[in-house]
Amino acid sequence: MTVLVTGGAGYIGSHAVLALLEAGYSVLALDNLATSSRESLRRVERLAGRQLTFIEGDIRDRQLLDKLFAEHTIEAVLHFAGLKAVGESVAEPLAYYANNVGGSVTLFQAMADAGVHRLVFSSSATVYGEPESMPLSESAPTARASNPYGQSKLVVEEVLKDLARADARWSIALLRYFNPVGAHPSGEIGEDPQGPPNNLMPYIAQVAVGKREQLTVFGADYATRDGTGVRDYIHVVDLVEGHLRALEVLENCTGAHVWNLGTGRGYSVLEMVAAFEAISGKRVPYTLQARRKGDVAECWADPTKARKELDWQARCGLEEMMADTWRWQSKNPNGY
Ligand code: NAD
Ligand code: WQD
Repeated sequence: MTVLVTGGAGYIGSHAVLALLEAGYSVLALDNLATSSRESLRRVERLAGRQLTFIEGDIRDRQLLDKLFAEHTIEAVLHFAGLKAVGESVAEPLAYYANNVGGSVTLFQAMADAGVHRLVFSSSATVYGEPESMPLSESAPTARASNPYGQSKLVVEEVLKDLARADARWSIALLRYFNPVGAHPSGEIGEDPQGPPNNLMPYIAQVAVGKREQLTVFGADYATRDGTGVRDYIHVVDLVEGHLRALEVLENCTGAHVWNLGTGRGYSVLEMVAAFEAISGKRVPYTLQARRKGDVAECWADPTKARKELDWQARCGLEEMMADTWRWQSKNPNGY
């Protein structure tokens, strides 16, 4: 079975491509390399001992998509392509709506015209907005996001729900990721942000490897255990396993289905720093600073629905997340 993976060269996409190859799927990876490197997929091929087909191109290019669907028998699409920097999305909303919403709609149109109706979409826990209570189950209300990135995820979710209502042939998974971290245990592929990382885990890793001086902890006055923000960090290998399960489950059901992909456990920023220091043996100096605009105090998943319906649950604990992040960062101090 052949799967089209958009954004396949990126952090999560490259791990998904590897898992798909290992599970016996044929993979077409489409990526414009806007925020990633061609090298990630070369390493994936080496790790898998199998080839994939890489197409450098854009999901907004309708002609290219039509050609891909015409030339290959694609049965499903895993759609990771998009931009994800929250701060940048505030400064450049049009780029975010064009890529994440416009690009997605173009992809869905090409799929519809090609008769391909099975889709797994990368959504985010950000669609829950400022949550009223924890943990977050899929029935919690969604809310207008505080930034265009989050808003783009919410809009695409709504587009896909409308699409499934309009045409019963669609089988769609809306996977709401909590906080993906970690790397493949080989240390060969991992997260390689361009410029200063926006997210906690890559920032910690870059401080530990000597690329950045210290971590800025955004807010120590939240109503949490130690005053710092609490999140549900999930190992990227567990996360992509959830995609493979969703792909299988979609084979036998139609409609649009929402599943949280999280562990159900929250850790604070300072707990993450301490766990990373313990595993790596490196010091991670930090300063406590003001809250970051738009951040929530705490956020973690109720993963029950995915466990019941996908027969999936996260297996890796914090130690593996830290050890695998550090292996990747120390083997590749400057990324790919
Ligand atoms: P990433 O930036 O590493 O990967 C995204 C990939 O998409 C990159 O390789 C980029 O070059 C490609 N891309 C961007 N625009 C494209 C376009 N128009 N056409 C073709 N390719 C394009 O990010 P990631 O962390 O791997 O995220 C993958 C998906 O998961 C994204 O949709 C992201 O919004 C979503 N997500 C990520 C997180 C997270 O914390 N990493 C959390 C929730 C959701
Ligand atoms: C985690 C915690 C920060 C950096 C974001 C997006 C979300 C999703 C994942 C991506 C928070 C604190 C962080 C730093 C810090 N989407 N922090 N110093 O904010 O939960 O989610 O990424 O595609 O949509 O909003 O993740 O890793 O940025 O932050 O203190 O340098 O770490 O305040 O408490 P977040 P994060």
